[in-house]
Amino acid sequence: MICLGIEGTAQKLGVGIVTDDGEILANISKHQEIREGIHPRDAAIHHAEHIKNLILKAIETAKIDFNDIDVIAFSQGPGLGPCLRVVAVAARTLSLKLNKPIVGVNHCIAHVEIGRLRTKAEDPVTLYVSGGNTQVIAYTDKRYRVFGETLDIAVGNMIDQFARDSGLGNPGGPIVEKLAMKGKKYIPMPYSIKGMDVSFSGLLTHALKLLNKYPIEDICFSLQETAFSMLVEVTERAVAQLNKEEVLLVGGVGVNKRLQSMLKKMCIERGCKFYVPENEFLGDNGAMIAWLGILMYKSGVRHKLEDTYIKQKFRTDEVEVTWRY
Ligand code: ATP
Ligand code: FE2
Repeated sequence: MICLGIEGTAQKLGVGIVTDDGEILANISKHQEIREGIHPRDAAIHHAEHIKNLILKAIETAKIDFNDIDVIAFSQGPGLGPCLRVVAVAARTLSLKLNKPIVGVNHCIAHVEIGRLRTKAEDPVTLYVSGGNTQVIAYTDKRYRVFGETLDIAVGNMIDQFARDSGLGNPGGPIVEKLAMKGKKYIPMPYSIKGMDVSFSGLLTHALKLLNKYPIEDICFSLQETAFSMLVEVTERAVAQLNKEEVLLVGGVGVNKRLQSMLKKMCIERGCKFYVPENEFLGDNGAMIAWLGILMYKSGVRHKLEDTYIKQKFRTDEVEVTWRY
């Protein structure tokens, strides 16, 4: 069975083609170049302009024919409304034209499932960190449940905003990581955990106030150390409470080597296993949408065209997990 999956919840558009054996036949993407924050309408125009060619290129890369596709999957949410709509229209059009079934998938669960596929983690506590999301997710009783999340902005958004406002550029993640490597001194910053949830907006405000008072390297270093320690702490608590033996890191911020090493250290100390997929599968990608489409379709999920409306605030725990036992 072959599934073509389309991702486009924010500024990145991705098309993936995956088999039910988990083989990735194509995984290509195109993202909108932005210097400021994302503008939903402009990102949607970008997706509409490029989607046709990206699909054609994915078919070519996979060395298949349109008729070889068995299922069409698309990211139904959460994400930016205008972007989601473009992707949904493209997926519906393909489904109708090829007369193949369509499955709308949850973007956050797709991150978890591609992480499990690529790393062979079985039942991990997942830390999902990106520009739009920050969640600690684990599977219990037929759902992917969110055990901790951000109460305000996502960690990636916090870092990107800091980098933009301090004139470092966009996206901030890799720039801040590089500068942080040269940082020597830790400057105390607000460390904010409430229950199992985290909050980053106070940290952002505080870090911006330190500009020109301390070396930028030390600010970046301290920002990362503080934010990542918060994330590691809630992840560790979820592992302890749920008695899980694996930790999986996914999402674009997961590329960060310091975050990876902090999580790894925690896992070694607790005696659990740490998994992180290749960079290609950490950030948004079409393959993860195609793979979750396969898992859902094979477990019996069927969506009618009228079930494919977009869900901007699609919650991770809304979906009944029919493909895991
Ligand atoms: P989502 O739709 O899941 O919220 P997204 O649109 O933010 O995803 P991703 O590709 O998952 O897209 O993640 C992009 C984020 O990852 C940006 O905030 C970027 O700054 C961050 N990032 C990328 N590389 C690094 C890095 N080396 N260190 C920290 N953050 C990084
Ligand atoms: Fe994502």
